[in-house]
Amino acid sequence: MKILLLPFPVLGLVALVQASYINYTTVTGYFMQDEASTNADTFVYYEENFGLINRTYAADLNNPASKDMTQWQRFYREVSLLNQLSPNNVEYKVFFFGRHGDGYHNDAQAYYGTPAWNCYWAELNGNGTISWYDAALSPAGISQAQIAHDFWQWLINDQKIHTPDAYYTSPLTRCLETANITFTGLDMPKDSSEFKPTVKELFRENISIHTCDNRHNKTYIHDMFPSWIIEAGFSENDKLWNGVTAETDAAEAVRSKMVMDEVFLQLKMKQTSNLFVSVTSHSGEIGSLLSVLGHRTFSLNTGAVIPVLIKAETLERDVATTCKTWSVSAHCTAPPATSLASCVCAASAAPVTTLLVTVTSVLPTETGPVCYNTALPTDIVQAGRVGRV
Ligand SMILES: *[C@@H]1O[C@H](CO)[C@@H](O)[C@H](O)[C@H]1NC(C)=O
Ligand SMILES: *[C@@H]1O[C@H](CO)[C@@H](O)[C@H](O)[C@H]1NC(C)=O
Ligand SMILES: *[C@@H]1O[C@H](CO)[C@@H](O)[C@H](O)[C@H]1NC(C)=O
Ligand SMILES: *[C@@H]1O[C@H](CO)[C@@H](O)[C@H](O)[C@H]1NC(C)=O
Ligand SMILES: *[C@@H]1O[C@H](CO)[C@@H](O)[C@H](O)[C@H]1NC(C)=O
Ligand SMILES: *[C@@H]1O[C@H](CO)[C@@H](O)[C@H](O)[C@H]1NC(C)=O
Repeated sequence: MKILLLPFPVLGLVALVQASYINYTTVTGYFMQDEASTNADTFVYYEENFGLINRTYAADLNNPASKDMTQWQRFYREVSLLNQLSPNNVEYKVFFFGRHGDGYHNDAQAYYGTPAWNCYWAELNGNGTISWYDAALSPAGISQAQIAHDFWQWLINDQKIHTPDAYYTSPLTRCLETANITFTGLDMPKDSSEFKPTVKELFRENISIHTCDNRHNKTYIHDMFPSWIIEAGFSENDKLWNGVTAETDAAEAVRSKMVMDEVFLQLKMKQTSNLFVSVTSHSGEIGSLLSVLGHRTFSLNTGAVIPVLIKAETLERDVATTCKTWSVSAHCTAPPATSLASCVCAASAAPVTTLLVTVTSVLPTETGPVCYNTALPTDIVQAGRVGRV
């Protein structure tokens, strides 16, 4: 079985084929957020022990030590057992998906209202008072990340939770800062993996024409966190944001599938247990990841974190490179006249698709398509056949 993996999205049409396909499913019955009865709007992860349901597991049976173990200790043993009992092509991992805390772009969107934000303000780098290009955390966002930090410390001390074996983060500043505050300085058990996250391009937010989705360069990220790992192939300048075209939901879903495949393959290669994984990302992107993982829709508030138990089954399938086009988004060149859902520009000016800001990084082909060497379940038509639709 040969796997060809591209370290970075290919721009333009390519017809590489990989001979395996990872099929992800969310294993339910362990977390409250997987149950239809749990309301995402009112669910507070740090008041609910991350949603871990109080129950006994198969791994608890006939095991006298169980009575002295916490729920999180028994859950970790259960995930280990699921892996031991499964065939070689099946793995189980727990991903902790954390949304960044409140950023200055979130505040500006609330201040201007979503229609005016989408139509005009979000296409600028800021408003003179605040900047939202690759937005940083606001003081409220810093507090939310501190809550996550304190909650992890409580879990370590009280629940004896197994801390993440690997850490990943989106390259956008608000996620770098959130991951940093959440995990720096935790008093962890001696055998824990060090907090040394990998910055991964494809964990970024859905790429709109908003400047908050345009990332800083690699040098800036490295200077901010010199000890962190920036994945191989990460470009100096942002090659994906162009301010003119936006990723569609379908394009984002393929990217989300790609980044999950990369992480599963990378962790497998390390030959250690790697059962718990932390990912710091964004609302839109976590929503997309959850859909790729077969999880029900579950929106995260700023700063929220949810664990997901994932089953990954590697199947022998021919999968072609999948290319999805992006769409052009129109906007106004001055604050819009109305705050309706659609863009109604001042003085009846027609919406334009030209940039309002100067950028150095523009896609070679502005409307894509952007291609990834993976596919979605809906792209696979039958076993052994290339199934791009
Ligand atoms: C992926 O797994 C799910 C759940 O086990 C199954 O229903 C589905 O058919 C699988 N997809 C493929 C392509 O095998
Ligand atoms: C689980 O049990 C503990 C007490 O052992 C309790 O404090 C907690 O609220 C319970 N959690 C849920 C989700 O029922
Ligand atoms: C810029 O936006 C912020 C809200 O994020 C607002 O408080 C501030 O007054 C705005 N500045 C100007 C000059 O309008
Ligand atoms: C990282 O987090 C620590 C602890 O909260 C903080 O002291 C430090 O300033 C942060 N670093 C950056 C670059 O934000
Ligand atoms: C990276 O970005 C910073 C500003 O964020 C800029 O000062 C610097 O010149 C850039 N470096 C490179 C190598 O492009
Ligand atoms: C992108 O994410 C934002 C949240 O940051 C959301 O409002 C928007 O609908 C998303 N767009 C797409 C195309 O998914």
